[in-house]
Amino acid sequence: MPMTRTDPGPHAGAIVCFGSINADLAAYSTTLPRAGETIHAERYQIGLGGKGANQAACAARLAGPLGLAVSLCGRVGTDPFGALVRARLAGFGVSLDGVRDDPDHPTGIALIGIDAQGENSITVVGAANMALDATDVEAAAPLLTAARVLLLQLETPLDASLAAARLAKAAGAIVILDPAPAPKDGLPDEIWQLADLLTPNETETERLVGLRPTDAASASACAERMQARGLRRAIVKLGARGVYYRDGAAGGFVEPFAVAAIDSVAAGDCFNGGLAVALAQGWTLAESVRFAAACGALATTRHGAAESAPTLDEVRALLG
Ligand code: RIB
Repeated sequence: MPMTRTDPGPHAGAIVCFGSINADLAAYSTTLPRAGETIHAERYQIGLGGKGANQAACAARLAGPLGLAVSLCGRVGTDPFGALVRARLAGFGVSLDGVRDDPDHPTGIALIGIDAQGENSITVVGAANMALDATDVEAAAPLLTAARVLLLQLETPLDASLAAARLAKAAGAIVILDPAPAPKDGLPDEIWQLADLLTPNETETERLVGLRPTDAASASACAERMQARGLRRAIVKLGARGVYYRDGAAGGFVEPFAVAAIDSVAAGDCFNGGLAVALAQGWTLAESVRFAAACGALATTRHGAAESAPTLDEVRALLG
């Protein structure tokens, strides 16, 4: 793809997300289909998704009132879904200077089923997201080197994310990697030193360190295993059971917030978006994790992916 370097602009510098952008096609049904089964769903929704886009959208919704800028770097196709996700991202206030149109690949999509209990199953077709490469990192270099916080996930090629992390880290950014989806072969050694924080959920933690966290004690053991690989600060997301975090030798636990959860899609992404906003303001890890946990909890109270991101007022109200 021809490369245009991205002008960081007057508001760059706070939060930059390098990652995936999808159109989510979500069907709501009483039960999820089993293999070989065709079922009727009650309704469907087409929305903004992709872990990168969700994290950026949530961060932008929260950061707008704080005067912090949020930029997204990624690729979309030149198809109607590309136009749709661009419009939705702009609506959240995300700067799209780092989003490139890919004439050779369609926009990524996710096919999502959600049942009456809020359980979901997701099939992602990465498409343009999987074409991200060194040229995207080079084009985004002015944004990456101006970032205070860089958000990464694993729905885009790892080599490109590593290159983005190297640039941002060398320029002083806090690098947060959400290892989702967790790779079968684990993570390369370099990432454990390059990332300031990893934020796996239970399944991802088990895949990364070979131990399933179920409570604060087992999450602490998992975090220690991550630190043994070179990571300084670890967060283990336990879903409805709370969040464990560890900074050096000091650990802490955030109890779950009491909310009426109906749909957990993108709750983890909203956690990371909130975490970035808190850390970008210079908050401690303990303060930031509590803020992020409130964001994740609120996201479970509504349907949709990016659309479930809470406002700053809602988070403040839940935190009390
Ligand atoms: O984390 C939720 C996201 O995963 C969805 O928005 C979907 O696009 C997939 O990437």
